Amino acid sequence: MKVLVLNGSPKAKSDTMRMTRSFLEGFAAKENCDIAIVDVIKKEVRPCMGCFMCWKNGDGRCVQKDDQNDILIEILQSDVIIWSFPLYTYSVPSHLKAVIDRLIPLVKLSMHEENGRVQHDALFDLSKKRFVVISGAGFPDWEGNFEGLRLQMKNNFGNPLLIFVPETPLLNIPEAAPLSEPLLEKFRLAGEEYAESQTLSKETVALLETPMMPKDQYLAQLNG
Ligand SMILES: Cc1cc2nc3c(=O)[nH]c(=O)nc-3n(C[C@H](O)[C@H](O)[C@H](O)COP(=O)(O)O)c2cc1C
Repeated sequence: MKVLVLNGSPKAKSDTMRMTRSFLEGFAAKENCDIAIVDVIKKEVRPCMGCFMCWKNGDGRCVQKDDQNDILIEILQSDVIIWSFPLYTYSVPSHLKAVIDRLIPLVKLSMHEENGRVQHDALFDLSKKRFVVISGAGFPDWEGNFEGLRLQMKNNFGNPLLIFVPETPLLNIPEAAPLSEPLLEKFRLAGEEYAESQTLSKETVALLETPMMPKDQYLAQLNG
């Protein structure tokens, strides 16, 4: 089993990667796997030029000579692809968005409609790959924060496993360890569950997404 983590945090000590690493720990405890972590911020991935040469050439490659073609190969060779990134302006950090935009060499110009979703026909069969999205956010839990990202990820990856966690800056505050350590343990157990059942129950996702601290308290501490 090959697992690829695309780490979209630009920080050396990523709040989100702390959760992702716990998830991987649980996963690796139950499944024999080869895990590759790509720190996207360290890669050179320029924005898509919109030239569509990838579709003209039909070779699954981008004509730009940077690191994206290696990332495309890694994705094609992996069974599980984990997108791990902080929520930036209700969306994906720009350097990681460039990676997502430049997935288009993996599909063709032709399109079809399936389950109410119009999508490009696949150049490579990605249907057996499993996509997981783990995103941390600085706001406390509120309805609109992740809604744009939820739709964006579903449109891009069909039926990904989505885990959206509020208040994640607490993960890098040592004094908050009594709150963050139990969350990390839940991520570790979730990794085990994911290895065993290839998905997570709604209950487990809800546990992972439960705020570590009540909203009022979080805001009061933050605002001093
Ligand atoms: C440019 C920028 C935009 C952000 N936008 C949001 C946002 O829209 N919603 C939110 O809840 N947090 C937002 N945050 C906070 C981060 O998501 C939060 O600090 C997260 O824990 C960082 O995770 P990381 O350490 O994995 O990078 C933003 C942070 C930055 C730097």
